[in-house]
Amino acid sequence: MRRLTVAIDGPAAAGKSTAARGLALRLGYTYLDTGGLYRALAYLYLTRENLDGPVDHAVLAEVLHGFEARPLSSGGFSVGGHNLGDELRTPEVGSAASKLAVIREVRDALTAQARKLAEGGGVVMEGRDAGTVILPDADLKFFLTASLEERSRRRFEELRERGERVTFEEVMAAEKARDERDSNRSLAPLRPAPDAVVLDTTGLTPEQVLEAIWREAARRFDIAETGPRSE
Ligand code: DC
Repeated sequence: MRRLTVAIDGPAAAGKSTAARGLALRLGYTYLDTGGLYRALAYLYLTRENLDGPVDHAVLAEVLHGFEARPLSSGGFSVGGHNLGDELRTPEVGSAASKLAVIREVRDALTAQARKLAEGGGVVMEGRDAGTVILPDADLKFFLTASLEERSRRRFEELRERGERVTFEEVMAAEKARDERDSNRSLAPLRPAPDAVVLDTTGLTPEQVLEAIWREAARRFDIAETGPRSE
């Protein structure tokens, strides 16, 4: 069986990561987190300059120069010899990633890297424009959504578990701002590809989301569980 290319897009905390990781695991495919590429770049930028004001294009050019992120099996990225993991998952880095993601040079460079990582198929790619721009010919495309309240609650619980001191209202405001920026930018805005299967994950457990995705994949393609089982 040919190794497929799967794209899973959607707003923050819609359940993409758990579904994409789970699907990749079941199929024995590679999981590619394109948001992690944007976060790795933003992290490097933030080590040089804050992003409270406008982007400093000289700093951005230096950070982008020779930027190459190699996915780690642990889920993070290796950049310039440094392994970046949990430090990429903070709200500050997420917000900075979203701000840099509106810039053409950034999108061009990271789109090219993401495409290269997907060469040869056998990948489940997660992001905002995986199915529309990075891999428009993907075999299977999903667009996951959920209500803003539910997505904010999921992110709030995740941050609290990690010991971050945030209020639900702060998390909701940050998610809303990020989604608006990601959806309203002129380059590769967040939206479902015309051939994407749209799935509202509000009220569904991560297991139910993965099952729904698996069922759709199995309905369309002759797939079998080849990877290690997730449980
Ligand atoms: O999925 P995430 O929360 O890790 O993504 C962080 C930011 O990166 C997101 O707010 C927008 C940007 N991004 C993007 O513009 N295109 C992608 N394919 C993936 C992420």
